[in-house]
Amino acid sequence: MKEQLAQIRVQALAAVAAAESTAALDELRVQYLGKKGALTAVLKSMGKLSPEERPAMGQLANEVRAALEQALEARGAELAAADLERRLKEEALDITVPGAPVKLGHRHPMYLALDEIKEIFIGMGFTVLDGPEVELASYNFDKLNAPEGHPSRDWSDTFYFDEDSRVMLRSQTSPMQVRAMETMPLPIRIIAPGRVYRKDEVDATHSPMFHQVEGMVIDKGVTMADLKGTLNTVVEKLYGKGTKTRFRPHHFPFTEPSCEMDVQCHKCGGVGCPTCKGEGWIELLGAGMIHPRVLEMSGIDPNVYSGWAFGIGLERTAMRRFKIADLRLIFENDVRFLEQF
Ligand code: PHE
Repeated sequence: MKEQLAQIRVQALAAVAAAESTAALDELRVQYLGKKGALTAVLKSMGKLSPEERPAMGQLANEVRAALEQALEARGAELAAADLERRLKEEALDITVPGAPVKLGHRHPMYLALDEIKEIFIGMGFTVLDGPEVELASYNFDKLNAPEGHPSRDWSDTFYFDEDSRVMLRSQTSPMQVRAMETMPLPIRIIAPGRVYRKDEVDATHSPMFHQVEGMVIDKGVTMADLKGTLNTVVEKLYGKGTKTRFRPHHFPFTEPSCEMDVQCHKCGGVGCPTCKGEGWIELLGAGMIHPRVLEMSGIDPNVYSGWAFGIGLERTAMRRFKIADLRLIFENDVRFLEQF
């Protein structure tokens, strides 16, 4: 038994010294000191010894156990220290390395122009509304006095979702007039910017998706003079004092009378050049006095209230504001272009 214990001691200590991981150490602990371990087996067989032999053997066995436990602990500490050392090396962070530059995005010129427009109108007491791009034809057309058969409802111009032409991508922001009239208390002063869709081919001045800002005022005693005064003020704030405008008669189903407003060409100052196609003026928006029938359809008495509305092309406004020649530049999002604003 003495030799057995000595052998266990030599073997176990050698194995512990050679162990390369804490998992290996745990295995060795079980192998020698566990319930079915080698040393435990020897202790269990002590009963077979004579009473004289037992104390000496017992003491020897305890010494072996103590030596083994101590060796396990010492090797464990060594392994843990080595592991920490390795991780400190591996995970070392050089905080003196210069950081990678963060590339900041850039505001789009059209949204810069929109922010200016919003600020001007908010300053005049208007509320900014947001509305659906997928719109009911009843809002885009019927309630705006463009009944079935009206040329603007044609399939060749409009993106419909259903055979019955009831759901569509809005072709103008004007349905927001109706939505405001139906939900807001009078008097109303709103603008409603957003995307609109028409089946246009892409060229220097057209795109199947573009942006408008709708504007509307309804109150008692509102006249065309208020419309002109407001729009002239906005144009001067956007494009500078003294910028000239021109109002031409036009037709829209939902306004009467209707007009279009031109702004004097920023390139030639009104003499005529390629940018304004020789006209000296650039068309900017459609507007007019809200048709009494439109007011009536939304439950407003045209004998008590009157109002005006306008729809301004946002791309065009931005192009003039920042002197951009081609509409396609607005949609390409080339950073070399965007970074100029
Ligand atoms: N909705 C018209 C368009 O898209 C513009 C407009 C708005 C005209 C409001 C009059 C009043 O051309």
